[in-house]
Amino acid sequence: MSDTLTKLTYQTFQQGKSYFGLAHKTLSSRLMNLIHPSLGQKRKPIPNEVLFKLREKMNQLLETDWQDAEKGIYPQSLLFDNPWSDFFRYYPLVCLDLPQTWERSEKKKYQEFSPQIETDGYPSYYVQNFHHQSNGYLSAESANLYDLQVELLFSGTADPMRRRILAPLKQGLKAFDSVAPRQMRILDVACGTGRTLRMIRGALPQASLYGMDLSPAYLRKANQHLSEIPGELPQLLQANAEELPYLNDYFHGVTSVFLFHELPAQVRQKVIEQCFRVTKPGGVFVICDSIQMSDSPELAVTMESFPEVFHEPYYRDYTHDDLVQRLEAAGFENISTQVHFVSKYFIAHKPAVN
Ligand SMILES: C[S@@+](CC[C@H](N)C(=O)[O-])C[C@H]1O[C@@H](n2cnc3c(N)ncnc32)[C@H](O)[C@@H]1O
Repeated sequence: MSDTLTKLTYQTFQQGKSYFGLAHKTLSSRLMNLIHPSLGQKRKPIPNEVLFKLREKMNQLLETDWQDAEKGIYPQSLLFDNPWSDFFRYYPLVCLDLPQTWERSEKKKYQEFSPQIETDGYPSYYVQNFHHQSNGYLSAESANLYDLQVELLFSGTADPMRRRILAPLKQGLKAFDSVAPRQMRILDVACGTGRTLRMIRGALPQASLYGMDLSPAYLRKANQHLSEIPGELPQLLQANAEELPYLNDYFHGVTSVFLFHELPAQVRQKVIEQCFRVTKPGGVFVICDSIQMSDSPELAVTMESFPEVFHEPYYRDYTHDDLVQRLEAAGFENISTQVHFVSKYFIAHKPAVN
């Protein structure tokens, strides 16, 4: 297929996801307003000029995504990587779960778990119905629905946003030119269902990949997804990112996607310190998370209502947090940031030893 045709196919594919996401959000909001009018009142409408800007930023994100593939940072096939069988299988269940999430939201039930779900041993900040989702991160059902819910929330741009970690990651790994590709070790902290590891595998087909997360159910799902793709199976481990169970200076690259807004401030610092500890001198740490207040003041209204609408108890604090300062305090240097659509990226380096 010629590049022009592939690009057109990619744009059409993304547009399809975007329209589907929009239709889903419109229909589900109407239904929610009918059943729970009080919830509808909490949602502040986004002004048209802001919607227009968002659309522009989304288009820029997709253009960058295409260009990075064209430059060979990852194969074009990654642009079309989509869990279709999960989509058809689980979309009806996402819809069936909505009334429960609305009820939880209206009754402010933020820590509601089925009796068979084991919540002992997890930090209290974690035992939450993040996004009002049934059983938080602790059930197989939640793990089955998660990717689709994120895709719907971001109108099909979750993976293009995740892929923005790949260029800085590969750039950072150039510090280890003499290391054979197979010896390169990359850790994804809070890997969830493994979407980011799939992207990293596409960009670094030979590297040794590692993923860790607190949720056994999400790791099981990650294992299922990751065992479908060629290349060595990433090593997955259940643990708390506050105490990463890896040796000091072990990884050439460490990544983390959509984790930090779900952590209390002091835990954010601890996790950054752990990421510093396990990164090799000269190695790179790349964070992808939500934009912050200072990046897009025009989205302030949306950022302010997001934590309540989606039950994100630490999000407000995150949007005002100085992560660059936190990274510096942990010992990282040469820190830069980027913004793509509604995500922000922190690229930090561990000083090399001379
Ligand atoms: C919003 S999800 C992001 C998942 C994945 N990185 C992605 O891109 O979709 C947050 C993830 O962080 C994990 N998590 C939250 N707190 C954690 C902690 N202290 N240690 C390890 N994982 C944690 C959750 O289990 C969940 O999988």
